[in-house]
Amino acid sequence: MEKHKEDIVANQYEKWVYPEPINDLAEDRAKGRTDATSVRMVHLMYWPDGSYVKRYDKRLNILIAGCGANAAARFAYEHPRSNIVGIDLSATSLKHADFLRKKHNLLNLTLHQMRIESVSDLDQEFDFIESSGVLHHLPNPQAGLAALKGVLKPDGVMALMLYGLYGRVGTYMLQSLFHQLGFSQGDEDVRAIKQVLQNLHPQHLAHHYMNANSDMRFDAGVVDSFLHGMDRPYTVQDCLDFVEQGGLVFRGWINRYDYYPEGQVSESSPLFSRIQSLPEEDIWKLMELLHSQIRMHLFYVGKKEVSPESYTIDFNGPQFPDIIPYQRIHEFAAADPAANKPAMITRKPYPPIPFNDSQVRLFNLFDGRRTVKEIVSNCGIRETEENLIVFFRNFLRSLWRMGHVYIQIPEV
Ligand SMILES: C[S@@+](CC[C@H](N)C(=O)[O-])C[C@H]1O[C@@H](n2cnc3c(N)ncnc32)[C@H](O)[C@@H]1O
Repeated sequence: MEKHKEDIVANQYEKWVYPEPINDLAEDRAKGRTDATSVRMVHLMYWPDGSYVKRYDKRLNILIAGCGANAAARFAYEHPRSNIVGIDLSATSLKHADFLRKKHNLLNLTLHQMRIESVSDLDQEFDFIESSGVLHHLPNPQAGLAALKGVLKPDGVMALMLYGLYGRVGTYMLQSLFHQLGFSQGDEDVRAIKQVLQNLHPQHLAHHYMNANSDMRFDAGVVDSFLHGMDRPYTVQDCLDFVEQGGLVFRGWINRYDYYPEGQVSESSPLFSRIQSLPEEDIWKLMELLHSQIRMHLFYVGKKEVSPESYTIDFNGPQFPDIIPYQRIHEFAAADPAANKPAMITRKPYPPIPFNDSQVRLFNLFDGRRTVKEIVSNCGIRETEENLIVFFRNFLRSLWRMGHVYIQIPEV
């Protein structure tokens, strides 16, 4: 039985290469496309003590597990000093990855056709492992996680993406419908279900998924969404249990914004203070219910033997004055008093966040070099240092929860 299930998935990705193949990585980069898990972009999430630059000097051994057509080559292109290994069971996907490898002369990329469950055969260990949209397709996702844990270095970090349950409810309804009617992954049936999707009742629960998902643009994406041979979704609690049962430690959400009330719930709402006063895990679980449309959970985990002090950002702890904030925004709009508009940070697709004058002064000093203590003594706000630090704790924590800052903590 297990063998049969494996074949279903293998056959699907042999025919329906996923994701839509990129033909040129330079053009891809020029369009600003990148993986949300990219170490280059979010290394301070994975190693907030700055290890990626200081200790690793940007030279990591990276595994992309279930790399599909593009991810391993894109990682190799984006991380030229790192060694990238891509594995996948689909020969056709790897063929495309190999085309990109040759086209861009990616000497730092190696590709292997193999199952995640057998990854120990590589006889290598990795500083960083990325597996996005893969483990939920395995007959036994926990066995896949165990195999990946087995090749993760002791201080390594693993970034995973698992499907979210609530944001995919409509998708599973249609999957079930098509399955019960005997639709296959053949070309004719794919054409037929595309027609069904175009004429779907305007109130069907799958619409949000379809509108928010670029997978609808290509046939393999339609198959992946609606005719998949095997996938299972996860709630926040399921993700936490999955990590715990795998003997790993959950370290955080990559798209943190979705899991906190800041930016999503007005502070005057009867929900805000009640949610905010709860322990972190409860906040995430409740925000998932309130959000209702999370269709993928992206998170990172590490090994139990690593000291939590080396990766925990403690906004209330004694080290707070020594942490270093970095801005993570694309635009900052200055205040326009004539139009009665406050200063705002904007980072699409998130709503703009208005700032008062004190917040602007502090935020302008987030340059990735100054510590909180130095910012406080340079900001020119007339307040006691103690009061400013209290104000700063809440301000920085809410920016961090909304994903508008990175934070570097002192090395332990
Ligand atoms: C939805 S695609 C994701 C591809 C890539 N990670 C990305 O995000 O673009 C899933 C990929 O996982 C691969 N896959 C599924 N089960 C696998 C397994 N047990 N071992 C290795 N690869 C697997 C499939 O062949 C497919 O290329």
